[in-house]
Amino acid sequence: MTRLVELEANGPRKLEPDDIDDGKGDVAVCQCGLSDEFPFCDGSHRRTRDEDEGTTYVYEDGERREVERVVTADEADE
Ligand code: FES
Repeated sequence: MTRLVELEANGPRKLEPDDIDDGKGDVAVCQCGLSDEFPFCDGSHRRTRDEDEGTTYVYEDGERREVERVVTADEADE
């Protein structure tokens, strides 16, 4: 599975000690791209659990849809 994610940030966020969850004692950084608390994980990754290998998804307005995978010029040359 692949996910198309649009991000608007143009720089990093430095993690601070206050970012540590006192209850859990850790910081979870989102790797799925769906978190409303990005760059932190908010549990939104659970929506990806039933994604199929080889399928590309777009998540938009709370909905998920399948799309044809975009092939870049570099990939087309491979
Ligand atoms: S990894 Fe993205 S919300 Fe958890």
